[in-house]
Amino acid sequence: MQGKKIILGISGSIAAYKAATLCRLLVKSGADVQVLMTENAASFISPLTLSTLSKKNVFSSVVSESAWNNHVELGLWADLFIVAPATATTIAKMAHGICDNILTAVYLSARCPVCIAPAMDLDMWKHKATQRNISLLLESGVMQLPVGYGELASGLYGEGRMAEPEEIVAFAEHFFASENQFKGKKILVTAGPTHEPLDPVRFIGNRSTGKMGIAIADELSRRGAEVNLVLGPTDLQPKSKNVRTIKVSTGLEMYDATKEVFPECDAAIFSAAVADYRPLYAATCKIKKEGESMEVQLVKNPDIAAAMGKIKKPSQITVGFALETDQELENAKTKLEKKNFDFIVLNSLKDEGAGFQSDTNKISIIHRGNKIENYQLKSKENVAVDIADALKLYLLK
Ligand code: CTP
Repeated sequence: MQGKKIILGISGSIAAYKAATLCRLLVKSGADVQVLMTENAASFISPLTLSTLSKKNVFSSVVSESAWNNHVELGLWADLFIVAPATATTIAKMAHGICDNILTAVYLSARCPVCIAPAMDLDMWKHKATQRNISLLLESGVMQLPVGYGELASGLYGEGRMAEPEEIVAFAEHFFASENQFKGKKILVTAGPTHEPLDPVRFIGNRSTGKMGIAIADELSRRGAEVNLVLGPTDLQPKSKNVRTIKVSTGLEMYDATKEVFPECDAAIFSAAVADYRPLYAATCKIKKEGESMEVQLVKNPDIAAAMGKIKKPSQITVGFALETDQELENAKTKLEKKNFDFIVLNSLKDEGAGFQSDTNKISIIHRGNKIENYQLKSKENVAVDIADALKLYLLK
C-alpha cells in the first residue's frame, strides 16, 4: 500500500474508537491517510488523536478558520475512500446525496472507489430504511464490508458491529494488490437476457438483468483486463468506461458477437441467460388475436458456451454459470463437463437473495476434480471479486 492515498471518513458511532487503530495500521502499511470526521465523530474520538496518527490535519467541516477545505480536490486526490465507521445517518446521506458535512461533500466529489464499514445497533442495521440505503449505495458501486456479529454497545447481541480494523486493512491491501493484476489480458463476458422476437412488439425472454455479469466486467476492468462485454437487452450498463460493451438483443446476435471476439481472448465468462429456443418465424407485422389458442414453433438457439468450449485453445480459460432449482450440484457438474469449462459458478434459486433481479447472490464454485468452494450471501459486486479471484488462479498460473 506504499504511497496509496486513502481518505478515512469517520462518522459518529462508538466504533469510532477503532478508527484510531485503523488509521495507525493504514499508515504503518505505507498509505498516505487523510482523515475526515463528522462533528458527531469528534464526540467519540478526538481529532487530535487522528491527526497525530495520520501526521496530517484532520478535516471536520467544509469550512475551517475562514478557509475552505477543498472537498473537490480531496475527492480527486484519493485512490480509495474508506468510511469507517459508517453510521445509519451517514449511509442515508451518502445514498441520497445529502451533502451537509465534509465527509458527505467529499463522497459526492470522489472519483475513486468508495468502501463503507457500517456500524450500528442490530435493529437499526436490519431496518428496511437502512437496507434500502445500503442497496442504493451498492447500486452506485460503493463496496461494503460485512458487519460483524457480537455484543453491541447497547448490550444486545446481533449483527451491526463494525468490521475489525485488521479486516478493513486486509480489504484495502487486496483491493490495491489486485489492481492491474490482469493487465495485458483480454477477457470476454456475456451477460443479460436475450429477447427472441415473436413479432415487432413481442418477444420470449427471461428475468435476467445482467447485473452479475456487469459486476464481473467492472471488476475485471478494475484489475486492468481489456474487457469485452457482450450484453443482452437491459437498462444497466458497466460503470467502468474501459469496458467495451457490445449490445445485442437475440441469442443469435450474442452468438455472432461472441464468436468474433472469443478467439483473441485469454478467458471468457459466460454469465448470460441465453434463451434456449427462439420462435422459428418472427412475424413482420403485429400478430392479431384470432382463435382460442395459438401455437408457436420454437427452434434451438446455439449454445454459445458449448460452441466456444469446442474451439477453445489449451491456453484459454472458460467459466460458466449454472442457475438451478433442483439437483443443483449434479446439474452444474454435468454442465462443467459438457461445455468444457475450467470452472462453473452455481447459484440455486432455492437460496433466498440469489439469482435474477436481486442485488445479492450466493454462489458455489465447482472446479474440475470435484473441488467445491461455497460462499456466503454477498452483494453481486463482492461475488464478482470472488469470481475474479478464482479466475486469477487459472489465468496467472
Ligand atoms: N449458455 C450459453 N448459450 C446458451 C445456453 C447457455 O452460452 N444457449 C451458457 C450460460 O451462459 C451458462 C451456461 O451455458 O454459462 C449454462 O447455462 P444454462 O442455461 O444453465 O444451461 P443450459 O445448457 O441451457 O441448460 P438448461 O437450461 O437445460 O438447464
